[in-house]
Amino acid sequence: MKHPVIGTVKNNRWLTPNIFELMVAFPDHSMEIKPGQFVELQCQGNHPVYLNRPFSPFMIRHQDWYFLIQNKGKGTNNLSHLQPGDKITMLSPLGKPFLPPTADNKILLIAGGVGLAPIYYYISHYLPLYPKLSITLLHGTSFEEDKIELPGYLDVLQYYFHADQSASQTNSNLFQYYQTLPKIDFDTAFVCGPLPMMRAFSRYFTKENRIHFVSLEMMMACGLGFCKGCSISTSDGMKSVCSDGPVFDGSELDWNLL
Ligand SMILES: Cc1cc2nc3c(=O)[nH]c(=O)nc-3n(C[C@H](O)[C@H](O)[C@H](O)COP(=O)(O)OP(=O)(O)OC[C@H]3O[C@@H](n4cnc5c(N)ncnc54)[C@H](O)[C@@H]3O)c2cc1C
Ligand code: FES
Repeated sequence: MKHPVIGTVKNNRWLTPNIFELMVAFPDHSMEIKPGQFVELQCQGNHPVYLNRPFSPFMIRHQDWYFLIQNKGKGTNNLSHLQPGDKITMLSPLGKPFLPPTADNKILLIAGGVGLAPIYYYISHYLPLYPKLSITLLHGTSFEEDKIELPGYLDVLQYYFHADQSASQTNSNLFQYYQTLPKIDFDTAFVCGPLPMMRAFSRYFTKENRIHFVSLEMMMACGLGFCKGCSISTSDGMKSVCSDGPVFDGSELDWNLL
C-alpha cells in the first residue's frame, strides 16, 4: 500500500519559457524511487483539479526532489505557482522501473522534451554506482529555447542535442537526426518522450533486433492499477500503464493502437 507523503516546496523556477523546475523537500530521507518509476502529485491551486498528476523525478539529492515540469494545463499551471514554504502531497513510488544496468553496459538514452526527467535520473542514479557504464544521451526538443542544461555528468557522457526547428541546421526530428549520426554502439536503449518519437525509434530498433524499452505517457486516474483507465494492448495481452509500466519492452507494444 502506498502512503501519501507531504513535502515542502524549497524552490520553483522557470528553466525555459514553458518548463519549470520544482524542488520539494520530503522529511523522510529513506524514501526511495528507482529510475523509470513515477509519483503522483496533488496539484491544488487556483484552478480546480481533482485527480493527481503523474511525474518522474529528475534528480534527488538527499531529501530534496527535483521535478522538471512542462506547463500544459490546469494541474501543471497550479504547480508552477507554488512558492517556497507551500506544502505538496505526493504518492510514491509508482509503476515499474527501467531495467538496471550491469557494471560495464553500453547504454543509449533517448529523451524528447521533458522525457529528459526519468532519463537524467537514470544517469544520476546509476553512474555513481557503476562508474564504468558507457552512456550516450540523445536529447531532442522542438526549439533551441527548450533546451535544458544538464546539472552534471556532461563530462562523462557522450551527449548529442538536437532541436527540431533550428536556425543553424536543416529542420528534422530526433529520429531523423539519429540516423545522420555515426553508428552508436549500445547493449540497451531507453526512450522517453512524445509518442510519435518513441514509435519511430521503437519500430526501428525492433526491426534491427535491438533491446530497447520505452516509458509511456498516458492520462492517468488512480495510478495504482485499479481503474483500468490507462490500459494498452501488448503482445502479452492488455496492460495498465501505471502498474505494469510505464516502462515497457518496445518490441512488445502494438504501436498501431497507441
Ligand atoms: C509516468 C508519467 C511520467 C510523467 N512525467 C512527467 C514529467 O516528469 N514532467 C512533465 O512535465 N510531465 C510528465 N508527465 C506528463 C504529465 O503528467 C502531464 O503533462 C500532466 O498530467 C498534465 O496535467 P495538466 O493538468 O497540466 O494538464 P491537463 O489539463 O490535464 O491536460 C492538458 C493537455 O495535456 C494533455 N495531457 C494530460 N496528461 C497527459 C499525459 N499524461 N500525457 C500526455 N498528454 C497529457 C491533455 O490531453 C491536454 O491536451 C508524465 C506522465 C506520465 C504518465
Ligand atoms: S490509472 Fe487507474 S489503472 Fe492506471
